[in-house]
Amino acid sequence: MRAEAFVLTWLVVAAVVTGFPIRRKARGSDVLYTVPLIDGHNDLPYNLRSHVKNQLANFNFSANLSSDPYWSKVQTSFTDLPRLRAGRLGAQFWVAFVGCSSQFKDAVEETMEQIDVIKRLIRAYPDDLQYATSAQGIWDAFNRSRIASLIAVEGGHSLDNRLAVLRLMYELGARYVSLTHSCNTPWGDSSPADSPDSGIPAEHNGLTEYGTLMVKEMNRLGMMVDLSHVSHAVMVDAINVSVAPVVFSHSSAFAICNHHRNVRDDILQLMPQNGGIVMVNFYSGYVNCRNATEASLEDVVAHINYIRTVAGVDHVGIGSDYDGIEATPVGLEDVSKYPNLFDRLAENRPGEPTWTSEDLEKLAGLNLIRVFGEVEKVRDRLAAEGLKPYEDLLPRADLGNNTGCITDAYSFSRA
Ligand SMILES: *[C@@H]1O[C@H](CO)[C@@H](O)[C@H](O)[C@H]1NC(C)=O
Ligand SMILES: *[C@@H]1O[C@H](CO)[C@@H](O)[C@H](O)[C@H]1NC(C)=O
Ligand SMILES: *[C@@H]1O[C@H](CO)[C@@H](O)[C@H](O)[C@H]1NC(C)=O
Ligand SMILES: *[C@@H]1O[C@H](CO)[C@@H](O)[C@H](O)[C@H]1NC(C)=O
Ligand SMILES: *[C@@H]1O[C@H](CO)[C@@H](O)[C@H](O)[C@H]1NC(C)=O
Ligand SMILES: *[C@@H]1O[C@H](CO)[C@@H](O)[C@H](O)[C@H]1NC(C)=O
Repeated sequence: MRAEAFVLTWLVVAAVVTGFPIRRKARGSDVLYTVPLIDGHNDLPYNLRSHVKNQLANFNFSANLSSDPYWSKVQTSFTDLPRLRAGRLGAQFWVAFVGCSSQFKDAVEETMEQIDVIKRLIRAYPDDLQYATSAQGIWDAFNRSRIASLIAVEGGHSLDNRLAVLRLMYELGARYVSLTHSCNTPWGDSSPADSPDSGIPAEHNGLTEYGTLMVKEMNRLGMMVDLSHVSHAVMVDAINVSVAPVVFSHSSAFAICNHHRNVRDDILQLMPQNGGIVMVNFYSGYVNCRNATEASLEDVVAHINYIRTVAGVDHVGIGSDYDGIEATPVGLEDVSKYPNLFDRLAENRPGEPTWTSEDLEKLAGLNLIRVFGEVEKVRDRLAAEGLKPYEDLLPRADLGNNTGCITDAYSFSRA
């Protein structure tokens, strides 16, 4: 008998004989064994682009990168398989993001490169990652102890103003598109429009008519509409036009930290009727506006509790933004730390909402799975009603002077 087995056997015997309770006290993070913990937003693919030119031969996802000589010095690196497993992550939306400077240039091709690297990463680590494109697919991966791996596109600039590109992004596997990143598109404003000192004024005061068609086509496709990064007016317009619930893949509460990337109360109050979800961002600068260097897990707890109180326990989730941010709160330093959050919420401190196991399961993953399932049902209903793809073209005038890359006037309407 090996020494460990010998010791263990005698410990069990001793416990039985003395009546010592072997069962430990339940923890909040135990729910992560029963439902998938779903993170709405991780920018690891952008790090792959920035640091290894998407060449996976030069990247070891199986290594704890916090002790890697190169990656330990990368300020935005918080993610690898050993730490994801320690953090008990069940599902991840991996983000195909390219910068706004690619708008009107090669944003579509660059976004496709990001989708390609996500798919290659998933295939390279089949013991840990499993490609998923549906709510059921998340369960299927979780049941096989794989991290369900979904694709998201961050920013309408990646669509080049073409419904055709939106449709093809869905075919390539993207299951949400954020309507904007930090730049306005010809059909919708981004969140800096809400901040007078951002230097990026509103151009449309919400969604243009073409922007509403983008939302309608997402509803038809079964693509989730992501409102993180958009202006307040775009949130209002998108929630009004969408016939499916919306998501905020990585945004926190404006009332607690008044950054334009966070969600205001009037929008949180629309969530019960809309059925959507606000997935809380961990970025130090979005959770603690007073002094980001002091951000801690307690700030994230405050945002989660606030959103729960205003929007309801059915409308809150997790969207860490790891690898898209350069500062994380104490206690949530990297992807290995999610269980801390669930253990802390389950303490149910006085003055805070009470978290039952069922509530913690909703926060972890059941809320997002419900939203995703409803988006799929809307898709199926619209198909059954015979709704056809929208064929409208962006009005040519809406492009302004951004025509440098256009060779074929066919792509735009004359108006
Ligand atoms: C990747 O890292 C793991 C864990 O440290 C190690 O076992 C493995 O040999 C590494 N693979 C390569 C190709 O370096
Ligand atoms: C990763 O390495 C760090 C040291 O750099 C260590 O503190 C941490 O426990 C390791 N995490 C895992 C999950 O191996
Ligand atoms: C697998 O997922 C389904 C949901 O589709 C769930 O009902 C079932 O209990 C899971 N099976 C196992 C073995 O965990
Ligand atoms: C919602 O959209 C309709 C048109 O579809 C419009 O009449 C109404 O004013 C909009 N409501 C809000 C709150 O924007
Ligand atoms: C922010 O917090 C840090 C760490 O506690 C402290 O050193 C710094 O002085 C604070 N800055 C401000 C502006 O309060
Ligand atoms: C387009 O460029 C012309 C000439 O530089 C300028 O006068 C005009 O204001 C620009 N239009 C827009 C919509 O930016």
